Amino acid sequence: MASGASRSHRNPLRDERDKRLPRIAGPCSMVIFGVTGDLSRRKLMPAIYDLANRGLLPSGFALVGFARRDWADEDFAKIVYDAVRANARTPFREDVWRELSAGFRFVQGTFDDDDAFARLASTLTALDEVRGTDGNHAFYLSIPPAAFPVVCDQLKRSELAQPHDGRWRRVVIEKPFGHDLASARKLNAVVNSVFPEHSVFRIDHYLGKETVQNILALRFANQLFDPVWSAHYIDHVQITMAEDIGLGGRAGYYDGIGAARDVIQNHLLQLLALVAMEEPVSFAPAELQAEKIKVLSATRNIAPLDENSARGQYGPGWQGNEKVCGLLEEEGFAKDSTTETYAAIALEVDTRRWAGVPFYLRTGKRLGRRVTEIALVFKRAPHLPFDSTMTAELGQNALVIRVQPDEGVTLRFGSKVPGSSMEVRDVNMDFSYGEAFTESSPEAYERLILDVLLGEPSLFPVNAEVELSWQILDPVLEAWAKKGTPETYESGTWGPASADEMLARTGRSWRRP
Ligand SMILES: NC(=O)c1ccc[n+]([C@@H]2O[C@H](COP(=O)([O-])OP(=O)(O)OC[C@H]3O[C@@H](n4cnc5c(N)ncnc54)[C@H](OP(=O)(O)O)[C@@H]3O)[C@@H](O)[C@H]2O)c1
Repeated sequence: MASGASRSHRNPLRDERDKRLPRIAGPCSMVIFGVTGDLSRRKLMPAIYDLANRGLLPSGFALVGFARRDWADEDFAKIVYDAVRANARTPFREDVWRELSAGFRFVQGTFDDDDAFARLASTLTALDEVRGTDGNHAFYLSIPPAAFPVVCDQLKRSELAQPHDGRWRRVVIEKPFGHDLASARKLNAVVNSVFPEHSVFRIDHYLGKETVQNILALRFANQLFDPVWSAHYIDHVQITMAEDIGLGGRAGYYDGIGAARDVIQNHLLQLLALVAMEEPVSFAPAELQAEKIKVLSATRNIAPLDENSARGQYGPGWQGNEKVCGLLEEEGFAKDSTTETYAAIALEVDTRRWAGVPFYLRTGKRLGRRVTEIALVFKRAPHLPFDSTMTAELGQNALVIRVQPDEGVTLRFGSKVPGSSMEVRDVNMDFSYGEAFTESSPEAYERLILDVLLGEPSLFPVNAEVELSWQILDPVLEAWAKKGTPETYESGTWGPASADEMLARTGRSWRRP
C-alpha cells in the first residue's frame, strides 16, 4: 500500500461536489442601485454578461437597475449594452444578449422615495411570475457609502429584505466599510438590523482574484512551502499594491479617504490574513473566516508609529513619457488637502509562527509601476562557504506571489554565474498563469457576483474582519491626523523618503518590482 493511501484525514481542497461541473446559480434576480455609476458600467454589468455567456446564470435571470434618471427599460438596456461591448471579457454573442436582456428592468427613483421602492417591489414580484426568479433577490449597493443606511432602511420598510417560504434576499456592499472602527461598527449595526450576517456580502474584489485564491492552494496543497513558512526562515514580508495612475477625476471619492483607508484597511490586510493564517480545518466558510479572524486579532502595529509608518502625497513628475501634475493641482482637490496618496505601515503578528517577523504593507498612486505582489523575503544563509567577493551580488531568497499584472509566482535564489570562477548571483524561477493554463482567469467580479447568487460566502469578509482591520489602522490614522501635511514625493518614483527610512532603520529595503 502506498504510504499515503491508509491515511484517513480529509483533503482540505476537496469537497463532495465534482469541481468539473460548473456552478450555476438557481433562479434569481439582481438589483443594482447606482447603476449609472462608474463601478456598475466598468465591472458589474460586464461581469453579469460574462457569467451569462459562460452559462452560469439561470435562464430566467433578471437584472434590475435603480437610478434617478428618467429612463425606460430600453434606455437601461442600451446602457448595459454599451458597458458590455466596452468592457466584457468574453466575446459578444447575439443569442446570449437577447436572452439576458429580456430580463432587464429599470426603476426610476431616489433613495428617499418610498413610492420608488414600492415600484421596485412590484417589479420584482412581476419578475417572479414572468421570468421565474422565484422570490430570490440580491441587492447590490453600488452607491456612495453615505447612502447605505437609507437604502437598507428602505429595503426593510418595503419588506424587500425579508424572504418568504425558504427563498433568499441578500445585500452586497462595496468598500469602504466605514472610515474608522466607530463608523464601521455603526454601519454593521445598521446593515445587520435589516439583513442577518449570512445574507450580507461585503465585496473586497481582491479576494475574487485567482492569484489571491492561489495563496491558499500554494500554502495548503503543497508540502514544499509550509516548512519554511515561519519566523525560522522568513526575515520579513512585503505586501505591495502600487498604481502608476493619479487621481484626476476621482477627487469626490478619494479626498478625505486616502491610501490607507482605500487599500490597506481592506485589500492589504486581507492579503496579510491569507499569508499569515494557520491552516483552516476545512475550506468551509466559517472555518476559513475563523482563521482569518484569529490572525487579524494577533496583528499589531510595530511601535513607535512615527518610525514604523509613512505617508506621502504625490507631487509633479513623470508618468511614463507624460509630465503630470501633483495631487494638489488635480481638479477637485483642495489646495491644502492632507489626503495621503501613499501609505506604508509595519505590522507584527503575535503568534508562535510569526514572532519577530515584520510585515510591511504599502500602497500608493503615481508610483513607478502598476503592480500588486506579496514577497516573502527569507533570512540570509547562516554561513556562506565562499569568499565574500563571490557572493557580492547575492541578495536574499524570496518567494513572490504576483497578484497583478503578469499573474504568477517567482522564486528568487542564488545561482552560479557561468564561467571558470565561482560567482553567485540572484536568478528568478517563474510560474506564469498565462503560460501554464490555457483558459483565461475570470474577472474578480464574475466570481464574486456568482458567489453572491449561489450564497457562497467564503470570499467575503465578515464584520469581525472589517472591525479588526480598522482596529489595526485607527491608531496610525490618528497619529497621522495630528501631524498635518504628508510628505511630498515625485510622481513616477517609489514614494516618500520616510518610507525608505522606515525599512532602512532595520537594515532592510523595499523591493523595486
Ligand atoms: N469605481 C470603482 O472602481 C470602485 C471600486 C471599489 C469600490 N467602489 C465603491 O462602489 C460604490 C460605487 O462607486 P462608483 O465609483 O460607481 O460611484 P459613482 O460613479 O459616483 O456612482 C454612484 C451611483 O450612485 C447613484 N446615486 C448617488 N446618490 C444617489 C441618490 N441619492 N439616489 C439615487 N442614486 C444615487 C448615482 O446616480 P446618478 O448617476 O443619478 O448620480 C450613481 O449611479 C461606492 O461605494 C464606491 O466606494 C467603487
